[in-house]
Amino acid sequence: MTLEKLFGLKGRTALVTGSSRGIGAAIAEGLAAAGAEVILHSTADAGTTAVRTRIEAAGGIAHELACDLSTPEAGRKLIEQAEAHAPLDILVINASAQINATLADLRARDLSFQLAVNLGSTVDMLQTVLPLMAARGWGRVVSIGSVNQLRPKSVVTAYAATKAAQHNLIQSQARDYANKNVLLNTLAPGLIDTDRNAHRRDSDPDGWALYTQNLNWMGRAGLPEEMVGAAILLSSEACSFMTGESIFMTGGY
Ligand SMILES: NC(=O)c1ccc[n+]([C@@H]2O[C@H](COP(=O)([O-])OP(=O)(O)OC[C@H]3O[C@@H](n4cnc5c(N)ncnc54)[C@H](OP(=O)(O)O)[C@@H]3O)[C@@H](O)[C@H]2O)c1
Repeated sequence: MTLEKLFGLKGRTALVTGSSRGIGAAIAEGLAAAGAEVILHSTADAGTTAVRTRIEAAGGIAHELACDLSTPEAGRKLIEQAEAHAPLDILVINASAQINATLADLRARDLSFQLAVNLGSTVDMLQTVLPLMAARGWGRVVSIGSVNQLRPKSVVTAYAATKAAQHNLIQSQARDYANKNVLLNTLAPGLIDTDRNAHRRDSDPDGWALYTQNLNWMGRAGLPEEMVGAAILLSSEACSFMTGESIFMTGGY
């Protein structure tokens, strides 16, 4: 088996939700570099144009879709629009909503919003895409989880619970689709330096430095591009005997 056969994605089409920036953009560019045709997604029309431009400049193929995944049936419609470009071989469920609050401070509408984006749209997307992948005899789903799915912090109570539920869903579907060569796994990052944390990093650089030094064994936040290798593994032939698992990329935790 050559490295190309193991990890190469030529001839595959991948949808990466939330790929305008951060981890999703890095993964989309990584999958494209491995040979996949990539369908980018964000909330805004042209929100992913900069990423598409970079992929095309590197010789890849990319398309753009936009929708707010908090709205009813958005996940199903997004899969249908992506399938209109090309049959999906790979789905990376990366977009998520995170509203920090302890249980005491959690507002009902913030819980509903996080449930809709993180869990509701995942249910919609899986309901729509898994039967199609199964009928075609090949599929990979990479769900972006979080270290909080296993070791939740109280300041992200609801977000952490949605990430745990998302992985639970991945595991039940991994079991159901295991014999159909449709494999579902979770990539669970620790703290990654993205827009999501920018307010904290930029408003208090010294506090951020202290926080990251003590957060994990490496004493730093990860970079979006450090998630790419594991995403390619979970999108490729190389994970042919792996399903329902999580890869934690936390810098040691
Ligand atoms: N950064 C971390 O420390 C960290 C740690 C653990 C896990 N994660 C997980 O990794 C993934 C990516 O995180 P990130 O830090 O790269 O995120 P980010 O920089 O905040 O980017 C979020 C992406 O999701 C999209 N998105 C947000 N809300 C959406 C909605 N309602 N409907 C559709 N798309 C929406 C955004 O689109 P727009 O550009 O249009 O807003 C953007 O493309 C998430 O699942 C997150 O939970 C992140």
